[in-house]
Amino acid sequence: MQEREQWGSRLAFVLAAAGSAIGLGNIWKFPYITHENGGGSFVLLYLFCIAIVGLPVIIAEMMVGRATKKSPVAAIEELSGKNSPWKIMGLMGVAASFIILSFYAVVAGWVMHYTYLAFSDSFSGMKANQFSEVFNQIFVNPWLNFGWATIFMAITLFIVIGGVKDGIEKAVKILMPVLIVIMILLVINSIFLPNNGFEKALKFIFLPTGGLHGAAILEALGHAFFTLSLGMGAMLTYGSYLDDKTNLFKAGLIVVALDTIIALLACIIIFSIMFAYGGKVSNGAGLVFISLPQEFAKMNGGYFVSIAFFLLLFFAALTSAISLLEVPVAYLIDKGWARKKASFTMGISIWLLSIPCALSNSEFWKNKFASVTMFDFKEKTVFFNKMDYLASNWLLPLGGLLIAVYVGWFISDKLRSEQFKIGSNSERPFHYIPWVFFTAVVSPIIVSMIILIEAEVIDKKAINQFFDGLVGSKTTIKQIHK
Ligand code: TRP
Repeated sequence: MQEREQWGSRLAFVLAAAGSAIGLGNIWKFPYITHENGGGSFVLLYLFCIAIVGLPVIIAEMMVGRATKKSPVAAIEELSGKNSPWKIMGLMGVAASFIILSFYAVVAGWVMHYTYLAFSDSFSGMKANQFSEVFNQIFVNPWLNFGWATIFMAITLFIVIGGVKDGIEKAVKILMPVLIVIMILLVINSIFLPNNGFEKALKFIFLPTGGLHGAAILEALGHAFFTLSLGMGAMLTYGSYLDDKTNLFKAGLIVVALDTIIALLACIIIFSIMFAYGGKVSNGAGLVFISLPQEFAKMNGGYFVSIAFFLLLFFAALTSAISLLEVPVAYLIDKGWARKKASFTMGISIWLLSIPCALSNSEFWKNKFASVTMFDFKEKTVFFNKMDYLASNWLLPLGGLLIAVYVGWFISDKLRSEQFKIGSNSERPFHYIPWVFFTAVVSPIIVSMIILIEAEVIDKKAINQFFDGLVGSKTTIKQIHK
């Protein structure tokens, strides 16, 4: 057995965990779901989910990892015995990492393509209708999709092969500070945009206007898990490389705060630009890939802003993908495999699974495999969307529920309280009891309710009526423009 790897410092752990959390979820997905759900009220709901479910669960995950110094499956074997049914939770995590990374790599591939377009100054000469063409092109062109996803997976694999200290830690120590600096520069740039874009963006993001739809609550909670990398053992695995000196509450709080700040700043950056130039905001994935480049073309210095933006997105995606690959790799390492062999095996398997995701929007795929309906949850959605849906709406909340119940009810209070007080100067930190309460009681209740709504055991209409009862109408970008 090789000796267990460890982070070089507490800072390295925090940067790696924040790197995992801060990703496409923050900069690509959060802004468009915020827009789709009307702004302020949704942001508030999301912050609520982060605070009362996200924070307790992230600490719970890190704790199981640190206490055992093992990846999910092995950690549960150590705490609950070889035959514990809780091992399923660990295996679900390995499966989830496959599913998430296989579509993550495809979107990250688009980001790389756009970074290339930005560098080659392709946006400035384009006419308004060409932007959606460019996006459609990558959306339906199997080779472009597949090629970039492959390059992205190769870079991720290269870093994970390097190991904890010489791979992941080195990468995040460079990428995360750069990411934060780019972010700050882009925010400063937003302040000086024309037509009070910045002010309008702040209003849109921070003024709750009511009118939430019931589905928003599912989306907010699912996204809280996704953005904090919870529910599949990524934080558990990173926690397993942590020393016995770091305070978990503090570390968890810093990671959650960084992740939330970056998500809000991303909204500020994107909506300031949209309001400043009055462009039409396309729904869904197109916000960052169609609407935004259109505005870059109109902006003074848009060339540099576009490069900065897509590089930022690329770095964010990379540090997240690393953590997604590390989970199944650590699983094999704990089974006695060498890191190199484990990394290649998992990296290549996930790459294979990403092929259908990469090709799923192309004509080729639709003609050939139209009848292959892998997961027929919602009609009409393509393979790619199904992966995202399956992960964010089912696997992660379910994984999060299980880990909260496990830490809340099935490990000893002695172990828990000892882990919690490490690095704190009090024997019984005042926030220990609230943390246990939120982990053992509040989170499981909220997450189970959401899962029951999702499974349509609880009627969605009732939830909609409840939200409709909260007065106010949905504000859209158009209304703010007036
Ligand atoms: N949190 C990342 C994002 O916001 C994605 C991610 C990385 C992730 N590791 C994960 C999501 C583990 C779920 C589980 O983009």
